[in-house]
This record gives sequence, structure tokens and C-alpha cells, in this order.
Amino acid sequence: MLYPHHHLSLEDRVIHKNDYQPCAEAFVDTRLRNRDGKLNYCIIGPGVAENDSQFIHIAEPHGFNVGGVSLPTGKFNSLHSHLTAEVFIVVRGVWRFFWGHDGKDGEQILKPGDIISIPTGCFRAFESIGSDDNFMFSLLGEDDPGAITWENEVIEGAANFGFYLTKDARLIDTRKGDLLPANDELIRPLSKSELLNFHRVSEQEMAARIYNVNENHGYIDIFADEQRNGGMKRYHPIIGETMSELYSVRSHILNPHSFSLAAIKSPPNNGFLKHTIDAKQVMIVGSGKWLIEIEHNNEFLMQELMPEDTVSIPENAVRSITNIGMEDGILYSAISGNEAANIIWM
Ligand SMILES: [Fe+2]
Repeated sequence: MLYPHHHLSLEDRVIHKNDYQPCAEAFVDTRLRNRDGKLNYCIIGPGVAENDSQFIHIAEPHGFNVGGVSLPTGKFNSLHSHLTAEVFIVVRGVWRFFWGHDGKDGEQILKPGDIISIPTGCFRAFESIGSDDNFMFSLLGEDDPGAITWENEVIEGAANFGFYLTKDARLIDTRKGDLLPANDELIRPLSKSELLNFHRVSEQEMAARIYNVNENHGYIDIFADEQRNGGMKRYHPIIGETMSELYSVRSHILNPHSFSLAAIKSPPNNGFLKHTIDAKQVMIVGSGKWLIEIEHNNEFLMQELMPEDTVSIPENAVRSITNIGMEDGILYSAISGNEAANIIWM
């Protein structure tokens, strides 16, 4: 499902953490036991939200979606599968991920700074096991990531609370007066053999798909601007082909996601000097305080960014970003496409 969008000013492209608009009933499982209180956010693109009332901050297609989720402690997000890549960036809280069609193929505990890429076509779930002050960004592959496949218990259990899901992923709420569509328009539980067709992922395989900038060195001396004042950084290519300038670096996770993900860690007064990239880029502040400057079609934006703020940068816009805090800062960058983007220095 793609949503209509209008022209965005550069200012419209900055979404601050405090402005994120949650939806408490984005998915069919939210009325089930121990699953209430899940807040879903659509920051860029509609993602896989099933509820028409979900607010979408930036509807313009980027080639991938950026959303977010928080959960009260002890609550969990039900087992489900996606058709495209799903990546989580943990920024607050402690989370237990578990997977497999019965949720028993393995588990991983994630803390702030951890990034996980979950293979497509595999049932996954997570629960919040730290404090209630928690949040993860979620990145989904493609403009239209398709519909979620929920584990049978969700589809069967949700009906007791008036929630039904149609085959085209529309949430029907009979408690709010929605009419129940014909039986053949509704999602049916999966057969045993259909369940067994979903990917099984071992614990080692999943562990290899986790990365944390604070636990890795990254690379230095690979960008031209590192020779100049203000360009000092450690570069962490995390997922996919990131930038064409880099011949000698390889990302931690290699399979195509429809976007790439990298991070930089810079000391105060450093970051990326002025450059363009020939693909859409989304920056997410992991830590520290940053100043971004963007020039595009005679528009100019200068904006301070704080942790968990998001900014969408049009392709070929001139951009620079500087750590203006007192400590090292971490900045994540997602770039549209499976091929390396071209970077041109000003
Ligand atoms: Fe998901």
C-alpha cells in the first residue's frame, strides 16, 4: 500500500524524537494477552502497519521504510514473518528476540547500540525485558514490504477481541463497527506444511547478523575528507554496499536489503564534510548532538539534531554533518538501493 505524498520542504524532512506519533493498535495482535501497550511508529513510509489510522510522518517513497517500536516491560510482539528485510536499531531498553515458527529456534538479548538484521521468511518475535523507557528503530526493505504473516495463535486469538485481518492486510475492528468481510477475504491459519516452509535460522546464524558500533573498530582513512579539518571519523559499514569510494571495506552483513546501513563515530567538531550522494539517504542520530546542513534546489537548511532524531535527505542534495557535542557521537546512515551509492566531495 503506497500513500499519496506532496512536496516536502527540507524542514519537513527533519523529524525530532519528541514529535514521533505512535499508534497503539497498529497490528492485529495488540489486543491479545501480554501484547497490549505496543506503540508503533511510521517515520518514513507506511511500513507494514495494518491500521488505517496509523500516522505516517514522511510518505514519500525512499526504497525502504523507517519506523519504530516501544513495548511495556514484560509485553511482547507476536511471532510473525516478513517478505522483505527487517532491521532493528536498539536505542533504549533491553530486548529478547526469539524466532522459529514455535519461537524456539533460538534467542538473542539486545541492548542499546545493537543492530540486528532478521532474515526474510522466518518467524520472529521480541519482548521488552529492561525498563519501560525503551525504543527501537525498525527498517523494512522495499517501498512496499508487503503483508505480515502472523503465527496462527494471533489470527485465531484476535477474533475473540473483534480483530480480523483481510488477505490485503486491512485490520477489521468489529468492536468499532467495521463489517466482517466474507470468510474467503480473511486470512486463514497456516497448515502444518505451510508453517514448515518458513526459514529456520540457527542461533549462530542470527548472532552473525548483530552489530554494535561501540564493540567494533570500524575503518579510518577511507574518505577523502578525513585529510581535512572536521572530517575525522571511524566508518562502520554494517549492511550491504554502502559507498562506491570504499574499495577495501566490507560490510558485516552482505545480503541485499534494498538499502544499505552504515554508521560513523566522530569526535567533537568532526563528521562528514560537504558532499552529495546520488541516492536517498536517511540519517538517524544514535548518540551526541549534531549539526546538519543541506542545500537543495535553492533551499538551505541548518538544523541541530539530538539522539533519535531522523532526517531524510533528497538525492544529490549537498550535505554536511558535524558533531557539535562535547563527546564522541554516533550517526547511522541508511541509503536507498542495493548498489553502492556514489559520493562526490564539494
Ligand atoms: Fe516485524
